[in-house]
Amino acid sequence: MQMIIVSVFKLIVVVTLFSLSKALGGLTSVVHGNPLKVIKDELDGLVFIDQRLAAIYPLIQTFKNNISSDPLNITGSWVGSDICSYKGFYCDSPPNNKSAITLASIDFNGFQLTAPSLDGFIDQLPDLALFHANSNFFSGTISPNIAKLPYLYELDISNNLFSGPFPSSILAMNTLSFLDIRFNQFSGSIPPQLFTKGLDILFVNNNDFIQQLAEILGNSHLFYLTLANNKFYGPIPRSIAKYFSGISEVLLLNNMLSGCLPYELGYLTETMVFDAGNNLLTGPIPFSLGCLKKAEVVNFAGNLLYGGVPEVVCAMPNLANLSLSNNYFSHVGPICRSLIKKGVLDVRNNCILGLPEQRSPHECSAFFSKPRYCSYRPTYRYLPCWLPGFSGSSMGLSEPAPAPV
Ligand SMILES: *[C@@H]1O[C@H](CO)[C@@H](O)[C@H](O)[C@H]1NC(C)=O
Ligand SMILES: *[C@@H]1O[C@H](CO)[C@@H](O)[C@H](O)[C@H]1NC(C)=O
Ligand SMILES: *[C@@H]1O[C@H](CO)[C@@H](O)[C@H](O)[C@H]1NC(C)=O
Ligand SMILES: *[C@@H]1O[C@H](CO)[C@@H](O)[C@H](O)[C@H]1NC(C)=O
Repeated sequence: MQMIIVSVFKLIVVVTLFSLSKALGGLTSVVHGNPLKVIKDELDGLVFIDQRLAAIYPLIQTFKNNISSDPLNITGSWVGSDICSYKGFYCDSPPNNKSAITLASIDFNGFQLTAPSLDGFIDQLPDLALFHANSNFFSGTISPNIAKLPYLYELDISNNLFSGPFPSSILAMNTLSFLDIRFNQFSGSIPPQLFTKGLDILFVNNNDFIQQLAEILGNSHLFYLTLANNKFYGPIPRSIAKYFSGISEVLLLNNMLSGCLPYELGYLTETMVFDAGNNLLTGPIPFSLGCLKKAEVVNFAGNLLYGGVPEVVCAMPNLANLSLSNNYFSHVGPICRSLIKKGVLDVRNNCILGLPEQRSPHECSAFFSKPRYCSYRPTYRYLPCWLPGFSGSSMGLSEPAPAPV
């Protein structure tokens, strides 16, 4: 029977696998359904359309055995020689041989699989170009062998159970352009070498990284970077525009950023979402923020900002949500007041006299009783763009008011 198969499919490779009886757990169920398959199986032979697939078959079966939980019965489809039809596995020709078929991509997103490690699996799939495994329960380390994969350029292990230091084996990879490790429990700092690897996109949000923001931005040439929900600290560097200038969403929320806001934020002219909520930022809002002509959502809620809310910021043309609640602002002008009425500007829990839902006078005076100072004071009123109606004296409207005592 095996001979017949070989002669019909001239290019087909027949591989004998000694571990097959273990791998073919479902054998008895097909005994009556498909006599041809049964004979093949009894001969411990499977027919693969390419030797590349035959070579990785035992590996996939071992990985399958390593999976301790599979609530969606994904691995139920990981049976037989047609690896290209297994759930989550995608085949294509490898770059070096257009007539070959190989495993090119894995997408386990949302599969909820549990395995103690991906070691010995992804790092042993020589033609893998993409590995996406968002929302599973994988953990362990990332094998140094991953750096030997010549084509792997997208690695997504987001929303899993990885922990410990940044997986340093990734640093040895030269092909990677997309790395997504968000929603894990990585800690420590991100090695600066990562930023010289030519990555385009890096998601590290929702981990436990502790590091100065300047150290990251100082080195990066990324197109997309998410840093939210970690423990990044230190000031927002004056060079921010250099790294985020083309970026539409700047997400710095829920970190431990401190210091005063640099007026250079006004150069983020492509930014539609700027979110630095829940940090320890202080000082006034620079007028230059009014230059973010595409900004729709701006969030500084939950910081230690004070002074007046600049009218020029409230006049941003596309603003849909300006969140400044839980700070220590003390003054809003007429343009900002109209935004409050429209529900666009939220200034609850500040120190603005005459507005509802403000902090107690006691809380405000306690805050202002400590000396507060930002350097580069004159830059706070500098507008790096031309805005009709906001030049010279009209800016006086939004002069930060003195602290109420
Ligand atoms: C399966 O688990 C063993 C033991 O942890 C490990 O050595 C091996 O590399 C794993 N293999 C695969 C393919 O996942
Ligand atoms: C799992 O999937 C396989 C193949 O799709 C199917 O044969 C099997 O009955 C399924 N098992 C359960 C427990 O649903
Ligand atoms: C390309 O792949 C096919 C199918 O695996 C194989 O038969 C052929 O020898 C390969 N060609 C080269 C140049 O490696
Ligand atoms: C505005 O943004 C804040 C902070 O991101 C968010 O909590 C709030 O729900 C948003 N408000 C509206 C009306 O979308």
